[in-house]
Amino acid sequence: MSLDLLLRRARLPRASRLQDIGIASGRIAAPAGEAREVIDLDGSLVTPALVEPHIHLDAVLTAGEPRPNMTGSLFEGIAIWSERVKSLTVEEVKARVRTVLRWQLANGVLHVRSHVDVCDPELRALRGLVELRQEVGDQMDIQLVAFPQQGIYSFDGGESLMRKAAEMGADVVGGIPHFELTREYGERSIRFAMELAAEHGRMVDIHCDETDDDQSRFLEVMAAETIRLGLTGRVTASHTTAMHSYNNAYAYRLINNVKRAGLHMVTNPLDNSVLQGRFDSYPIRRGHTRIKELLAAGVNVSLGHDSVMDPWYPLGYADPLQAAFVLVHFAQMSGQSELETLFDMITTRPAEALGISNYGLSEGDPADLVVFAAPSEMDALRLIAPRRFVLRGGRIVSRTQPGQTTVTWDGKEEPVDFLKGKGTRDGR
Ligand code: FE2
Repeated sequence: MSLDLLLRRARLPRASRLQDIGIASGRIAAPAGEAREVIDLDGSLVTPALVEPHIHLDAVLTAGEPRPNMTGSLFEGIAIWSERVKSLTVEEVKARVRTVLRWQLANGVLHVRSHVDVCDPELRALRGLVELRQEVGDQMDIQLVAFPQQGIYSFDGGESLMRKAAEMGADVVGGIPHFELTREYGERSIRFAMELAAEHGRMVDIHCDETDDDQSRFLEVMAAETIRLGLTGRVTASHTTAMHSYNNAYAYRLINNVKRAGLHMVTNPLDNSVLQGRFDSYPIRRGHTRIKELLAAGVNVSLGHDSVMDPWYPLGYADPLQAAFVLVHFAQMSGQSELETLFDMITTRPAEALGISNYGLSEGDPADLVVFAAPSEMDALRLIAPRRFVLRGGRIVSRTQPGQTTVTWDGKEEPVDFLKGKGTRDGR
């Protein structure tokens, strides 16, 4: 069989030897036979396409509109967003999102799950995103979550807006129980969201316990409802930062139940590192979910970007690797195998949470690949390395020429590439 493309000398995740990757008819193939095109990767790390499991595309690029978030707090962010939402139009939502989708593509992200605020009687953002999901077609896969930013029972008409959103084609049903007016509303909102998802054959992804309040305990309700409705494998709990503040006995029992229910978890280090702990004097809590304990219990934990230049987080350029870099520090995941796990958290783990089939680096999988300008996971994270190539179905859809730096040393100009020798894994 002849190949369309042969990638020579690639380094796959956790591999110490280089190997060739063949591509034929848009899929990964055995690296044998003639190839129409050959690219020598010279030891660059190659992973499957990056997966973004948690972003709010409808809010991207709105930082400063109509006013900047002066405190940087979650609550000022929500207040500003409720003002900004009034000036949304389908076209301006689409224009902002198109920009960020290009950034994601350039960063190697080919699968995106976006929450979309549906607390809008006209559902403008959702209409725009539904159109865009269709327009991007084969280029990227987008899942949309009906996300009730102001609550299902605390916002006038919340229930019917959620139903409408599901009928309009939201792939996933969301919620925000800790933000509802009462504990009872919160519990009810979870039951409603889960039943709506079951009724329409959709998945569930709920913003759950995104607070420092150790009394915010909605994750246990999610686990129980998932078991009751038989939704195992189709439910994700996002943020769950309150878990950081629970007592250890409760957290132990909860993590066991999360595992039993088969929940997927998503942590969002960029936003939560700046939004949590805001009511603390010293010491200030970090306010992340218990990532290491969840992983150790066998729970599927993924890593999300959450915001790109919006009222809650003014920075970011939609690169999951930047979020992973922050999580290294915030979750103390600096061990060798933990650095490798972080790559799983932006590739295989979110692929499982989103239910993406045919994903990976095996022969026959779609040739959706990312080539990093770095020889190992550690170097890619350390340098937040540029993506030299991004391939979709075997076609190169993004190229980055890494910058070239020189220093003048002893009167001579020399190149600097910030790499220790030719790599760090096996001393090449
Ligand atoms: Fe979020």
